[in-house]
Amino acid sequence: MSSPFELQQAQAELAAKNPRVILKAALAAFDQIAISFSGAEDVALIDMAVKLKPDVAVFCLDTGRLHPETYRFLETVRERYSRIRLTILSPDAEELSRLVSAKGLFSFYRDGHTECCGIRKVASLRRHLPTLDAWITGQRRDQNPTRQAVAEVELDTAFATPDHALIKFNPLANWSSAQVWDYIEAFEVPFNPLHRQGYVSIGCEPCTRAVLPHQHEREGRWWWEDAAKKECGLHAGNLRGGKGKS
Ligand code: ADX
Ligand code: SF4
Repeated sequence: MSSPFELQQAQAELAAKNPRVILKAALAAFDQIAISFSGAEDVALIDMAVKLKPDVAVFCLDTGRLHPETYRFLETVRERYSRIRLTILSPDAEELSRLVSAKGLFSFYRDGHTECCGIRKVASLRRHLPTLDAWITGQRRDQNPTRQAVAEVELDTAFATPDHALIKFNPLANWSSAQVWDYIEAFEVPFNPLHRQGYVSIGCEPCTRAVLPHQHEREGRWWWEDAAKKECGLHAGNLRGGKGKS
């Protein structure tokens, strides 16, 4: 970080601003910063960021259960934006082996997604975030009732440690899905081919399905679970609520 980051000032200055302005401020404020990329329409963030910083750091949590289309798309992104520093993070092999040996490969349908997401996503993220001072996500307020209070920039209390503060930027927070797709079309940004098949929000293959016209995008994720709890742990702070919290 070049100078001490003033969170409240940044929150006031960046509220309701265009994603590009938020990204520019984020990349100017922090050197150790990376985009957290899911392989879905958040690719728009990468396209915006490379115009500001061609070698921007990007990481993807490879759960081992992403769709084949998503794995191929990650490589499309790597080729299209050849200067980005793309890190693919894998779950801990022993932890994962213990889970799937004890409970099988689809335990989440029986006892919920928390344990599997905990190993395949959250633990990998928890190992990676200490290398960063700030991270950038594609969360939007219109994505989920749990995301209505997502701020453009917030303190990530879920992943910070007592001796390591962590800032989380959500440049798309105040954009709608339609605005993201307008951007993707206008700038000919490559996108995950699953979007052509009715998938809107895209996560792991066993936990994601296409939605019908006018169904909310979140209905395609963990559809067997309560809508109010549909956070996998990456953004667990959203369940606690409150602007500036995470
Ligand atoms: S999730 O928490 O329910 O899975 P969602 O799919 O809505 O999240 O994506 C919101 C943002 O979380 C993405 O734009 C991205 O920043 C981050 N994210 C979600 N999944 C991943 C992933 N597998 N790897 C990296 N970042 C991810
Ligand atoms: Fe496991 Fe499903 Fe979570 Fe992926 S989304 S980590 S398969 S529970």
